[in-house]
Order: sequence, then C-alpha cells, then structure tokens
Amino acid sequence: MTRAISLHDVSKAYTRGARVVDRLSLDITPAEFLVLLGPSGCGKSTVLRMIAGLEEIDEGELLLDGEYANDLPPSGRDMAMVFQNFALYPNMTSRANIGFPLRIEAPDTDPRPRVDATARLLGIEDLLDRLPGQLSGGERQRVAMGRAIARHPSAFLMDEPLSNLDAKLRTHLRAEITQLTQELGVTTVYVTHDQAEAMSLGDRVAVLRGGVLQQVDSPRAVYALPRNVFVAAFVGTPRINLLRGLVRAPLDGAMTISLGKQFLRLPEPLSLDHQLLRVQQGREVIVGLRSEAVRIAKHSAARPGEVPLTGLVEHVEFQGHEILVHFDTGSSPAVVPELEAPRPRPGSPARRRRRDGSVLTRLRERSAAGRAGPVVTLDHPEAAVPEAAEVRLPGDLIVRTTPDLALRHGMQVPLLVDLAHLFVFDQHGDRICPHPDRLPDLGE
Ligand SMILES: Nc1ncnc2c1ncn2[C@@H]1O[C@H](COP(=O)(O)OP(=O)(O)OP(=O)(O)O)[C@@H](O)[C@H]1O
Ligand SMILES: [Mg+2]
Repeated sequence: MTRAISLHDVSKAYTRGARVVDRLSLDITPAEFLVLLGPSGCGKSTVLRMIAGLEEIDEGELLLDGEYANDLPPSGRDMAMVFQNFALYPNMTSRANIGFPLRIEAPDTDPRPRVDATARLLGIEDLLDRLPGQLSGGERQRVAMGRAIARHPSAFLMDEPLSNLDAKLRTHLRAEITQLTQELGVTTVYVTHDQAEAMSLGDRVAVLRGGVLQQVDSPRAVYALPRNVFVAAFVGTPRINLLRGLVRAPLDGAMTISLGKQFLRLPEPLSLDHQLLRVQQGREVIVGLRSEAVRIAKHSAARPGEVPLTGLVEHVEFQGHEILVHFDTGSSPAVVPELEAPRPRPGSPARRRRRDGSVLTRLRERSAAGRAGPVVTLDHPEAAVPEAAEVRLPGDLIVRTTPDLALRHGMQVPLLVDLAHLFVFDQHGDRICPHPDRLPDLGE
C-alpha cells in the first residue's frame, strides 16, 4: 500500500510571526519520488517533519490518501523516516536494529524472515551480526535504510540520508535508492540541498526558498523552464551565468540586449521568445546563460542562431576532462542573495590577497566580500544599482570548454552565444523566455 500525500496551504512558524514554511501546497501521488530541494534553512526538514507528524501544522491541511491527517499521531501514519545521522541503537546488532520496529509492531511475530529479506534486498546479509560501531558510514546508512524498509511502510520520508557520506559512496547509494524505491513502489519524499542529487533521484523536484515553494516539476522542466532566476541559479552545474542586461527595441532597428559595453543582437524576424521581450523595451532584465549557451569561437564561424560576444580571460580553472574559463565581458553579474557572496572588485584588498590562495585567506576573503559591496540584489534592483564603474566585476561569464584550448589570463577571445539557449528574466526575477510553447514536452 502506498500513499498519496497532499499539503494544502500549510504554514509553520516556530516563533510568532516568522513563518519558516509559508502556504505550501503540494500533491504527491502514490509511488511518486518527490524531492524537496532548497538551501539550508529554507524549511525542508520542517515540511518533512510535519508530514511525519513530528511537528505541528499551524495552518493549512495535510491529507493522507485524501483523509484529513493534521492530528493523526506519527504512529498512525505508517511512514518510515531515514535521517542524515543514521540513528541506530549502538548496542544492538544490525539484525536487532532492523528488526526493532517489527518487534514493537508485532511482538508475537518472528521478525527474522522480514529482516533477512530486507538484508538481501540491500546486500547487507554479511553485516547482520555486527554492531553499528563495527560498520562504515555507508554500511550504517544501509542498515538504517533496512530498518525503514523492513516495516513495509506506505511512505518513506528521507532527510538528507546521504549527506554524511563521501562523494563516491553517495553516488553509489543514490543509484541504490532509486532502484529500491522503484522496486518497492512506495511514495517517497526526499529532502536535500544538493541539486545534483535532486535531479538524479526525483520524479519531480519541489524547490523551496525561504519557506515558499518556487516550482514543482520534473527535473528536466526545472532545468529547462525554471520559473524564476532563483530556481535557474540553484539547479545545474556550473551555475548559470546571470548578467544584467538592458532591452532596446527601437522601432526602426534590430532589437538588442545590452550587456555593459557589448550587446546581443536578436536576429530578424524575431522568434516567438524574443517577441516577448518587446514589452521590456528600456527596462533592465537578467540574462541567463548556461554553459551550453556559450562557446569559444576561436576556430569556427557562427552557426545559425548564434551571435558574437568578446571576453577577456580572467582565470582558467582546470577540471581534468574540461576547463572552466572565467571571462570578463564588461557586463555586471546579477547576484541571487541566498546563493552566493559577491566577488571582490579588482584592486580591492580581498582581490590582492587572492594571489597567495591559501584556504584560510580565501575564507577570510569570502566573509569580507560578504560584508563589502557591491551586491546587485534582485529583490531591490532599483536600490542596488551602484555607479557604473563600481559594478564592473571581473569574470562575469564562465564558459566550459575542452582542456586542449590554450588560454591564458589577459587574452581577448571571441565567443558565440546560442540564442536558442537564452534565458531572460524580468526585474523581479521571473522568467520571460524561453516560452513553454518552445519546449512543449516540458510545458508548464
Ligand atoms: N525547533 C525549532 N525552533 C525554532 N526554529 C527552528 C526550529 N527548527 C528549525 N527552525 C528554524 O526554521 C527554519 C527552517 O529550518 P529547517 O530545519 O526546516 O531547514 P532546512 O531546509 O531543513 O535546512 P538544512 O538544509 O540546514 O537542514 C530555520 O531558519 C531554522 O533555524
Ligand atoms: Mg534540514
């Protein structure tokens, strides 16, 4: 048996007046794998705990299979929770840990067959006689998962279950969780702040910001049609480039988006997407360029739909299979406040210190940058437009390329922007293009 979980306008405040979850509505269908994604403190765990019955709901309704469940005690909800810090009983073997909830539920039934079946499913038969102290982190997490599964609950609630593990193990267990939950066909709500994890696990991803749901969609739709600049910036690596632009749509000439001293010229006839930009004439917008939207045009001509831009190499980041080139295009980055500290300006003390590059210096630098300006916040664009000279931050565009290109600091490099991959957001950060009609499979 698997559950439908619905939240209708659910709110929660721990202290009066400060809502940490704000009118959240979500319909999770039976057997769905839904990921709650968002930065630290955005209310993910609180939502999960309200679903589990561990936290009271202040306003709104929780429905389980269509039945009002706000006041149902946790034991009556038939859900199993898996936490980040594998809460195993240290003095019990894996077998006893996995069997524990079964013994509570049905004291007269021998838990062994269920425990053995669960252990087989998770490939931990060899670990059943060990104590948690004799297991590695990954093994402990499997046992914790086993304890949740053995009961055959009607829903799993997982709160960052993999975040204490190293990267390799995390990827491995991620694949296991996907397979396991598909096999069991149990509704799963999975909390993480790791966008890569969310994208690879979820049937749908619900993005939260400050307790407010921003978007809930398939991973593909969240990536290709982010509702706003926050979602666009939260999802995808390397992070989407966000530049401040100005739309110019003269009656007698081509429409352009200025990016500082350069501009993107939109080809005639205007595409459906670009027609939507007409009403933005004379207004500031935020241009979003993911790494697939820009390429270095050293040895190749523009393809249809590509327009030129020039960048000054600021910094080259070697990644092995690729390099990330940080360009200065003379435009100003738009900053999403929760997601990053602003980069220091050239010549500032923070910037000069970067040369010695120690971790401590960089940390210090980051916290100094967090205090000093300029920050272009999106919520108050008009209040945060400093003098033109001040907003010239270096390395405003990061482009991914193959490692064989020899690029050095200070080189002037021709770039091509693929307008088919152009994102534009309005002053409030809401997406203007692409229009969903252009990506009908992902339509909103
Ligand atoms: N018991 C509590 N009392 C008061 N405030 C709380 C309590 N629990 C959480 N909060 C606050 O509520 C907000 C949301 O917390 P929550 O734990 O849901 O965030 P989260 O998204 O899970 O963050 P993280 O990714 O860091 O785990 C935070 O600002 C947190 O400080
Ligand atoms: Mg949490």
